[in-house]
Amino acid sequence: MRARGPRSQDVQAEPTDTTMKKLRVGIVGFGFIGPHHLDAIRRLGFAEVTGIATVSEQDARRQAERYHISNHYASWRQLVADPAIDVVDVATPTNLHAPVALAAIAAGKHVIVDKPMALNTREAKKMHDAARRAGVVNAVTFSIRYNVMLQQARAMIARGAVGDIRVATGHYWQEWLTKETDFNWRLDPKQGGALGMISDAGAHWYDMVQHVTGRRIVRVLADFSRFIPVRQRPVGGGKTVDYRVRVPDFGIILCELDNGARGLFSTGAISAGHKNDLTLEVCGSRASVRWQQERPDELWVGRRDEPNQTWIKDPPLLDPSVRSLAALPGGHYEAWPDAFRNLMRNILGFIAEGRDPREADGATFPTFATGLGIARIVDAIAASAKAGGKWKPVARS
Ligand SMILES: NC(=O)c1ccc[n+]([C@@H]2O[C@H](COP(=O)([O-])OP(=O)(O)OC[C@H]3O[C@@H](n4cnc5c(N)ncnc54)[C@H](O)[C@@H]3O)[C@@H](O)[C@H]2O)c1
Repeated sequence: MRARGPRSQDVQAEPTDTTMKKLRVGIVGFGFIGPHHLDAIRRLGFAEVTGIATVSEQDARRQAERYHISNHYASWRQLVADPAIDVVDVATPTNLHAPVALAAIAAGKHVIVDKPMALNTREAKKMHDAARRAGVVNAVTFSIRYNVMLQQARAMIARGAVGDIRVATGHYWQEWLTKETDFNWRLDPKQGGALGMISDAGAHWYDMVQHVTGRRIVRVLADFSRFIPVRQRPVGGGKTVDYRVRVPDFGIILCELDNGARGLFSTGAISAGHKNDLTLEVCGSRASVRWQQERPDELWVGRRDEPNQTWIKDPPLLDPSVRSLAALPGGHYEAWPDAFRNLMRNILGFIAEGRDPREADGATFPTFATGLGIARIVDAIAASAKAGGKWKPVARS
C-alpha cells in the first residue's frame, strides 16, 4: 500500500495580507532552544516575540535586553496572563510544558510546546483535551521533519518512487553524556521524563519515521542499557556529588509499522564523536532513501538497476510540493535553523490566517494529537523494556 501523499496544505503559505496586525508571541524558557524559536519567528515578518519569561526575572531581563525583546516577566504566570500575548511558546525543561501550556489554554491563547510534548502520556492527554475543548491552535515543535531534503524523501515515498515500504532504520547518537562528569536536567526523571534520551531525542525519530513514510508505529520491542550508573552532579563552586542515574543512557528499539514494515532505531548520548548524528533510511520495493542530519542538504537514493545518487538540494529540482520550503538557492546549505523557520511558518501562518484549529491534522504542522501519539509510542517502549524485551502494542486513542 502507498503512503498518503502530501497535499497542498501540508506547506502553509505565508499570509498575504501585509496590513494585518503582527502576531504577538511570548516565549517561556530561553536557554538553548528559546533563542532559536526567536530567530525562526523573526525571519517570518508577520509575527514578533514581544516578551519572555525564564527561571528568574533577573535572567529574563538580561536576555530581553540582549536580544532587544520589548518585555520580560517575573514569572511564566505573568507572561501567560498578559492580554497582549496571542501565542504562548514553551521552551522550558519538559516538566514545565504541561503546567505552562494548560495555563495558556485556560487564558485562551494559542500554544506551542517544544518536544517532547510532556513528561508522560497522562500529561499529554490532558493538554490535548484542554486545547481541543478551548478551540485554540496547538503545536509541538518536531522541527527536524521540516528539513527540505527529508521532505523531498517524503514526497518521493508519497508518489510511489520508493515503492512499498519494507524497512526503516536509523539512530540519534550524540556524545554529551560520554563521561561520568557529564550532567544535564534530562537525567532527572522529574524534569526530563523516565526514559532520558529515548524519549527526548528519540521523539524526533518516531515523528520523522511516521511523517516521512505516512505510516504509524504499531508495536515496539525495546532494550535499554545504563553504562554509567553513578554520575557527578554539579552543586556549585566547582564541586560535585554522586548522582544515582535512574534513566537509561542507551536504547535499541525494534518497531513495526502499520503496513508490516520493520524498523530498527537506537539512541543515546554516549557515542564519542557523534555530535548530532540523526539518520533515517527507508527501504522500499523500488528504491531506498537516506537522510542524515549532519549532511542535511543531501538525500541518498539507492536503486538496484540504476546508479545510486547523492542528491544535493536545488529548488527547481525538488518535488513541487516541497519547493517553497527551500529558502536558499542550491549550493547554499540549509539546515536545522531553516527547518525551524519552516515549522514556525506553518504554525504561525495557520494562526495568522485565523484558520480553524480542527483543520490542523498533524501534516501541516505537528499538533498536540501528534505529540500524544509519540507519548504513546514512548509508553509502549517503556513497557517493552520493563517486560525484558517483549513486543508491546502502541495504544491508540
Ligand atoms: N526541537 C528541537 O530540536 C529541540 C532541541 C533542543 C531542546 N529541545 C527541547 O526544548 C526544551 C528546552 O530545552 P533546552 O535545551 O533549551 O533547555 P535549557 O536548559 O537550555 O533551557 C531551559 C530554559 O527554561 C528556563 N526555565 C527553567 N525553569 C523555569 C521556570 N520555572 N519558569 C520559566 N522558565 C524556566 C531556563 O531559565 C532556561 O531559559 C526541552 O523540552 C527540550 O527537549 C528541542
